[in-house]
Amino acid sequence: MFKINDNYLKLPGSYLFSTIAKKVNAYSQANPEKKIIRLGIGDVTQPLAPAIIEALHNAVDEMGKAETFHGYAPDLGYEFLRSAIAENDYKARGCDIAADEIFISDGAKCDSGNIQEIFSTDNKIAVCDPVYPVYVDTNVMAGRTGTYDADKEVWSDVIYMPCLAENNFAPELPKETPDLIYLCFPNNPTGSTIMKEQLQEWVDYANKVGAVIIYDAAYEAYISQEDVPHTIYECDGARACAIELRSFSKNAGFTGVRLGFTVIPKELKCGETSLHSLWARRHGTKYNGAPYIVQRAGEAVYSAAGKAQLKEQVAYYMRNAKYILEGLKDAGYTVSGGVDAPYIWLKAPKGMSSWEFFDYLLENANVVGTPGSGFGPSGETYFRLTAFGSYENTVAAVERIKGV
Ligand code: MLT
Repeated sequence: MFKINDNYLKLPGSYLFSTIAKKVNAYSQANPEKKIIRLGIGDVTQPLAPAIIEALHNAVDEMGKAETFHGYAPDLGYEFLRSAIAENDYKARGCDIAADEIFISDGAKCDSGNIQEIFSTDNKIAVCDPVYPVYVDTNVMAGRTGTYDADKEVWSDVIYMPCLAENNFAPELPKETPDLIYLCFPNNPTGSTIMKEQLQEWVDYANKVGAVIIYDAAYEAYISQEDVPHTIYECDGARACAIELRSFSKNAGFTGVRLGFTVIPKELKCGETSLHSLWARRHGTKYNGAPYIVQRAGEAVYSAAGKAQLKEQVAYYMRNAKYILEGLKDAGYTVSGGVDAPYIWLKAPKGMSSWEFFDYLLENANVVGTPGSGFGPSGETYFRLTAFGSYENTVAAVERIKGV
């Protein structure tokens, strides 16, 4: 008789955004006349930039001719894309990352979930609390997190690093030593970030204790302040301790197109074994690459026209962020984030829990956000709004929230 991976049974509830979608669908079916504004999941709403559309069209045409047709992509991704990334995202920032240290994938969500596979199940993970749920859930599936305490909503073998208003939503070095440290800056969900010297402390710490940092930089395009690092490789010593995850979803609107990449420097080793070769082995075995068409679209992100158009797109969303931040502040809410990230983090009013506020806003303002507690226990009483809506919807949502 077969057995299942019963680690899956330990997972409490369903994936956060699936739970929200079900609740919103149920409400909308019961109230078909209500116009709901969705500022929950961080999904983009602006169309792909013209430079990207042009690259997609060209690549589609190439696929229609025998001479320019492309079958399976190379394991690590096409050289043209990996070189464009190395040049623009790393060398231009003074970081020493080579094209062959970059692995192209179909997005950072998969990579952030899959990367744990190359580590022993004995490893102890440390996560920010609140945190993007994928990091924890995928470690649960792998059997790395111990038992779940349903009252406290924590796993026995996970080190939680609370990110609260008192520490500016930035984690402190943990008391217990972890093996794997998940960091995401600019942060999802709190919209906060850390300065380069703070990230340097993490890199020094990881090198000292022999831990690996899994650094999710999916929101780096939203950084507006000087001294906020765009990549962990701006820090000295990061090549020896850090893996970086990057996405095209948020900087270029590829949530429905799918493209991302992971950087593993060749220096990153466990004894004599390089993590680069382990990930290359996994990638080659389990993955057949992002489509040629999509990789060409990714290349266009780095063209002069692509860069200019995407700068405008990011500015569009950041105007929304500013509108939400200032609008809710004026209305008396305690709000943060939204300066270097497309997320606004607010305290639920009148002592409401995160889910109570979710229901309250859905029913009274017909606005959907994300309950902070869905990201971890320290997110309780907080609420996240995304700046990825249209400007008109963002303005309308803020007015509605002010009015309830
Ligand atoms: C979010 O809303 O947290 C993100 O959209 C999730 C994701 O990028 O997968």
